[in-house]
Amino acid sequence: MSKKITKAVFPVGGLGTRFLPATKSIPKEMLPVVDKPLIQYAVEEAVAAGIDTLIFITGRNKQAIANHFDKAYELEHELELKQKEERLRTIREIIPAHVDCIYIRQSEALGLGHAVHCAKKVVGNEPFAVLLADDLIDGNSQPCLAQMVEAFEERGNSVIAVEEVDHDKTDQYGIVEVDDAASKCTAIQAIVEKPKPADAPSNLAVVGRYILTPRILQLLETTGKDAGGEIQLTDAISALLSEQPVNAFKFNGVRHDCGSKAGFLRANIEFALQHADLEEQLKESSDKICEALDHQKD
Ligand code: UTP
Repeated sequence: MSKKITKAVFPVGGLGTRFLPATKSIPKEMLPVVDKPLIQYAVEEAVAAGIDTLIFITGRNKQAIANHFDKAYELEHELELKQKEERLRTIREIIPAHVDCIYIRQSEALGLGHAVHCAKKVVGNEPFAVLLADDLIDGNSQPCLAQMVEAFEERGNSVIAVEEVDHDKTDQYGIVEVDDAASKCTAIQAIVEKPKPADAPSNLAVVGRYILTPRILQLLETTGKDAGGEIQLTDAISALLSEQPVNAFKFNGVRHDCGSKAGFLRANIEFALQHADLEEQLKESSDKICEALDHQKD
């Protein structure tokens, strides 16, 4: 098994019901944070970590994602004629020339585990990354996946991004029990999907970045459906734990849960404040808005 991570899976087959009606015909992953769709941030993070093969697991109504990463001849021609060099650059640089995009259709939205399993033939016998675009991570000086690739290269075992969440929110996440909760990268003992706060083994929550060994793809074949009829990646990771070490990795950076309305709005404000031209206009109102969003339940 090669240790180099060159392939990343982007499960984009979910229905995105929390954003209806916006997501009736537009994929959730195409919702923009300031001026870029969520999926582009995730792709940029993957490419910065050395990934050269992007595997999108798509569903119905997801053509906009393939169009976004394709060349737009007419638009480029128009911008050239109008000498809009800067805007031309923003669309030409969406994806570097050495990077390939592969699209696989998930015929039914049967859960995240099912979506990841759809990549089996393309991934083959290599470790690979999984990125959920609705977790938008501002990795400070180093993108989150690049931090995880370093941890994987040191250890050679699966690495899963985790962060501390409020104890009363454990029922929204996969929660891990670890060897040493104080350590940045530590072995996972157990993983539980959405435990009630009273039953949670810790407040370390799994977020949408994984580096997994290919064994997970075999385990997903025999992973049963949960009570909601979905095949959960968490259940396959739990099975993987009985065979191989799996590490929980506390990344440096800030995660925005863009699958929730409050998290999405907050990401827009925080990313807008990083744009020199918007910061001036927004800075007075932004603190009040962020404070209000902190108290907002989705
Ligand atoms: P979510 O649990 O956020 O579901 O999926 P969702 O359908 O996208 O959104 P809501 O809850 O209805 O608003 C987590 C991730 O798993 C992907 C989603 O695209 C998202 O990135 N996913 C989920 C799939 O690719 N296929 C599935 O069958 C389910």
